[in-house]
Amino acid sequence: MTQSGQRHLLRGRVLTFQSEPQTEADTEAYTYIEDGALVISAGRIEAIGTYDDLKQPGLAETDHRPHLLLPGFIDMHLHFPQVQVIASWGDQLLDWLNNYTFPEEMRFADQGHADDMAAAFYNILLAQGTTTAMAFCSVHAGSAEAYFTEAARRNMCMIGGKVMMDRNAPDALCDTPQSAYDDTKALIERWHGKGRAHYAISPRFAITSTPAQMEMAGTLVREHPECYIQTHLSENKDEISFTKALYPQARDYLDVYQTYGLVTEKSFLGHAIHLEPREIEALVETGAHPVFCPTSNLFLGSGLFDDAGLRAQGIQSGIATDIGAGTSYSMLQTLNEGYKVLQLQGQKLHPLRAFHWITRGNAVALGLEDRIGTLSAGSDADIVVLNSQATPEMALRALRATSLSEELFILMMMGDDRAISQVYVAGERQKRDARAA
Ligand code: GUN
Ligand code: ZN
Repeated sequence: MTQSGQRHLLRGRVLTFQSEPQTEADTEAYTYIEDGALVISAGRIEAIGTYDDLKQPGLAETDHRPHLLLPGFIDMHLHFPQVQVIASWGDQLLDWLNNYTFPEEMRFADQGHADDMAAAFYNILLAQGTTTAMAFCSVHAGSAEAYFTEAARRNMCMIGGKVMMDRNAPDALCDTPQSAYDDTKALIERWHGKGRAHYAISPRFAITSTPAQMEMAGTLVREHPECYIQTHLSENKDEISFTKALYPQARDYLDVYQTYGLVTEKSFLGHAIHLEPREIEALVETGAHPVFCPTSNLFLGSGLFDDAGLRAQGIQSGIATDIGAGTSYSMLQTLNEGYKVLQLQGQKLHPLRAFHWITRGNAVALGLEDRIGTLSAGSDADIVVLNSQATPEMALRALRATSLSEELFILMMMGDDRAISQVYVAGERQKRDARAA
């Protein structure tokens, strides 16, 4: 059966969210259809409903039962040039950057290397059920070119940008305020809004940008309010001290970014662990989004993200892998570690809320929930097919599961790419193995 561009129906157990559920009883927040179906046409979801209501004579079908059909996962923060940095031993943030990360990012000056890594990067994301991500590229414009070119070839909704950095890094990784401005401007013009691409203006963090470069980044944000902004905030105590020494006039770390107009509802601030009360107030006022990166925060020993504290203020956080400080590309494993980070603080992550977060939750933070993150009619058909019995140990555990929440919890605690049975990007099946239905 060919499905290319053709109208077709997927059958399975459909799960999608309308708002954030707190418990399984919160049935207004989600739609779960036991014998459900999605009709896909021209890359979009045309209809969602029961199989009986949507089946039509002559309409091609793929039967994914007993698996779950969910919106494709969204990874809100990772680093494309760090695919070969993951699992680098022993250091915390600043040493890890100097000893492992910067040397690896230097290799992206070679366009052939960037192109090869882009192909590998998207193969991995899709195998993990991640259909949208927001990534930092290296300082080289060519790395962003490779990143967007490969995403376009696969028709993926991807967000990213060339990182801007002009100090406290090897010379080979430094641009200048002007070249960062010029390269970013050219990349925005070339890629933002082209197909499914979105540009993120990407000053790496306060430590690696001079005030002059921050100023240029602010100019870009004013000139391109349609673009996202991504950077890092308060990940590590030494990082915070160094930042305060470099920007002595700033009230706190976030104030550095605020001074240059970099904090808006389109800003995504990786980590945001060690926040001061004023910074939390400023996040509320600006609508900017902290991004929780649990595997990275544990791996680098950075600290525990205060999800409940931020939520209590109405702040909408994203959740992400942060490859290559993160240790898994899997958003399921990200939830696993996120659950444990919250447990250490006496906080809870209900499995329904968890799956909402990696789908609609991240999409809402992006303001893209009309396109991605749900299975609503009209959305782009980015879909993941989940098998909660993918391994013998999951199957054994699943025998004792009596509710949807329990099944989802097994998936997030025990699942990884083996639980991703199939992935659709804009309606196109990604796994070619006929057995991988
Ligand atoms: N802060 C600045 N750059 C980085 C990076 O590449 N990874 C992480 N985890 N934190 C950063
Ligand atoms: Zn990061």
